[in-house]
Amino acid sequence: MPSNETDKALHARTRAIRAGRADNQNALAPILWATSTFTAASVAEARDLAVDTHSTRFYTRYGNPTVKAFEDAVADLEGTESARAFASGMGALSAIVLGLCSSGDHIVAQRQLYGGTQLLLQTACPRFGIEVTFVDGTEPGAFAEAVIAGRTMLVIAESPANPRLDVIDLAALGAIEGPMTVLDSTFATPLGQRPAEFGVDLVVHSATKAIAGHNDATIGVVAGSEELLEWLWNYAVLHGAVASPFDAMNALRGIRTLAVRLRQQTDTAAALADALAGHRAVEAVYYPGLASHPQHELAAGQMDLAGGLVTFDLKGGYEAGRAFTEEVRVVQFATSLGGPESLVTHPASTTHVSLMPAELETLCIGQGTVRFSAGLEHTDDVVADVVRALDRIDPSAR
Ligand SMILES: Cc1ncc(COP(=O)(O)O)c(C=O)c1O
Repeated sequence: MPSNETDKALHARTRAIRAGRADNQNALAPILWATSTFTAASVAEARDLAVDTHSTRFYTRYGNPTVKAFEDAVADLEGTESARAFASGMGALSAIVLGLCSSGDHIVAQRQLYGGTQLLLQTACPRFGIEVTFVDGTEPGAFAEAVIAGRTMLVIAESPANPRLDVIDLAALGAIEGPMTVLDSTFATPLGQRPAEFGVDLVVHSATKAIAGHNDATIGVVAGSEELLEWLWNYAVLHGAVASPFDAMNALRGIRTLAVRLRQQTDTAAALADALAGHRAVEAVYYPGLASHPQHELAAGQMDLAGGLVTFDLKGGYEAGRAFTEEVRVVQFATSLGGPESLVTHPASTTHVSLMPAELETLCIGQGTVRFSAGLEHTDDVVADVVRALDRIDPSAR
């Protein structure tokens, strides 16, 4: 079989190697089409290219062969007709919200969301006359009950969700009739869960994270039906937050190794979750792979892997959170996830810093809450470093 054909019967990790090669000529690695524009042989040809929503050789804001290769690979792994890349995860989310909603429309959104998404919905939407109702996404039926027939345009969810890894029932989300359903699946990656199989209309990723996987690309992507993505494209070319070919090349390279990276990161996260659960400095641990996680069964039923993120609450509030994140040595303190380096972040000071204290409380984000993202170091070194840092900050250990 030629390498530019993918086969739905192959395992996802095999398809991750083969996808996105349709326009690769005989190059094995992705070709970087750095050009911003393309020559046309005639006015008639230029006109055709300018109105073709799939044009990859007109002008890079409209489409680009390197970006298209990445989009094809994501669509293949998500099992959707199409995908579109954006300049970042937020570029993708804002294109969905502003490209698909108009003044007077209504959105139902999960309360537990990445802080940037929440701010988009809380601050930009009201300015454009778009009303947003936030619900607890873990409460059965909450999304469907908040839908206003004829007015709700989008239902937006994230699973596992920032920062406490709440898991949303994808089948219930996909079954909602009327509005378009959107799932930010960044934490799961396309190899951890496939929301489209549950009927979710649009699947979003901050590919900046595990998909690109090396902390060297800022890029977002939306996967869904051809029809919905054409709508998005019409707005996206005006909005202009399109993916750079360089980032798309790195993100496609990331897809090739995603399976092994995700496996390793999941192993480390699972080992760390176990170690944290028994440590006296830790108040609570949130990891979908732990039997104590409130949606553990749900996660096991809809996710292939529990993933590389673990969130935990430290006893001792802000001072404990600060001391711990400044104490780790193998693990580094930075705001992102899914890369080769194990990272910790302090959500109350970083990803969710713009939220009011009451909002942080509603989301159960404490001053002692820490989010950990497993990297690719040896699991034992990572767990030992975290336990050492916890021992250092735990007053009862001194
Ligand atoms: C779940 C989730 N969605 C979206 C985003 C935004 O992605 P980006 O930083 O690529 O704009 C983030 C960023 O941390 C995220 O964690």
